[in-house]
Amino acid sequence: MLLPVLSVLVILSPIVYSIPHNTSAASCTITKYNANDILNAQKECNEIIINGISVDAGKTLDLTHLKQGAKVIFQGTITWGYKEWTGPLLKISGTEVEITGAANHLLDGQGHLWWDGLGGNGGKAKPRFVNPSNLHNSKISNLNIKNSPVHVFVIKGCDGLTIDNVLIDDKDGDTGGGHNTDAFDISSSTNVVIKGSTVYNQDDCLAVKSGKGYVFTDNFCSGGHGISIGSVGNTAVESVQMTNSHVENSANGIRIKTVYGAVGSVKDITFENISLKDITGYGIIIEGDYENGGPTGTPTDGCPITELTVKNITGTVKESAANVYVLVEGASDWHFSGIGVTGGKKAVKCQGIPPGAGISC
Ligand SMILES: *[C@@H]1O[C@H](CO)[C@@H](O)[C@H](O)[C@H]1NC(C)=O
Ligand SMILES: *[C@@H]1O[C@H](CO)[C@@H](O)[C@H](O)[C@H]1NC(C)=O
Ligand SMILES: *[C@@H]1O[C@H](CO)[C@@H](O)[C@H](O)[C@H]1NC(C)=O
Repeated sequence: MLLPVLSVLVILSPIVYSIPHNTSAASCTITKYNANDILNAQKECNEIIINGISVDAGKTLDLTHLKQGAKVIFQGTITWGYKEWTGPLLKISGTEVEITGAANHLLDGQGHLWWDGLGGNGGKAKPRFVNPSNLHNSKISNLNIKNSPVHVFVIKGCDGLTIDNVLIDDKDGDTGGGHNTDAFDISSSTNVVIKGSTVYNQDDCLAVKSGKGYVFTDNFCSGGHGISIGSVGNTAVESVQMTNSHVENSANGIRIKTVYGAVGSVKDITFENISLKDITGYGIIIEGDYENGGPTGTPTDGCPITELTVKNITGTVKESAANVYVLVEGASDWHFSGIGVTGGKKAVKCQGIPPGAGISC
């Protein structure tokens, strides 16, 4: 069985890094980490293959100089050296670019080198993994990502980004001290689609912090904190659709949280066709009382949740969990239907639900 695999490897590697003079047709291959080579490849090449490199400790694999329409393909296993710093390990910017991975490639964050159970709250400084920033009409697809030290995708300042078929496997962090391994955090962006992806982590599967025009669909989330808007405070979140997804073995199923005393808005939000299994805290939780990462018990109305549709959310929570929990002020225009979340016995709040919302706790 080993021989055919070995012969394929021999045929594929190594390809020497080179920049042809006719750049309009250039494909460049990077097989060794060198920041200058990577910068030059972006200036000269339309297609960049990054094959099995080990990025120096404390360095970002910097793909922020890509030509318009460029394509980057990861091959083999990419690793990063160990250093206490905040990263990111990989940064991507550009217009109409495509980032993808060949079969059997792996972006291995080697999170175990940093994990100490404290995530972003203390202990070792840990690098965030992937930072799509100022990406326009671009696509990230078919990536295999393993063991992020802390947050996986931190998406900021993008307009028109589709993330499709990404596998985030931070399962080792369940017993190895992984914490705050949010899969997809989005802020200050427009028109971002995340679809067809699979996440095993220890924090939010999706966390929308600000921005508008987001779609999260056809995804699988396990081990973390569920599909979440927030915490939103002194920012605005508008037009987010979270649909056709499954959440299991997670603290929450679906969640919206806004910050106590903050001014902002959460508007035009849809959760539809989401199945839940073995949720340990709350199946559905909507709360307007957050402060310093925890609930105060008192919601405020400065950041109201309006135009909220929650439709066809079904499945089970653990006996020690709550099915539905709502604690808000100033909400309006809510439409709940087809809510079949069962199994929970934990005490719930049911405060601030607008009349006619069609929900009970
Ligand atoms: C560069 O390559 C393209 C595609 O093969 C070709 O059409 C073009 O004429 C070449 N340009 C030069 C300057 O050789
Ligand atoms: C409800 O959502 C589930 C997925 O969780 C889907 O399979 C089912 O078809 C949906 N039902 C309706 C009536 O939309
Ligand atoms: C929810 O599921 C139903 C049944 O499969 C489907 O008709 C509907 O389009 C789905 N809703 C969304 C927002 O995808």
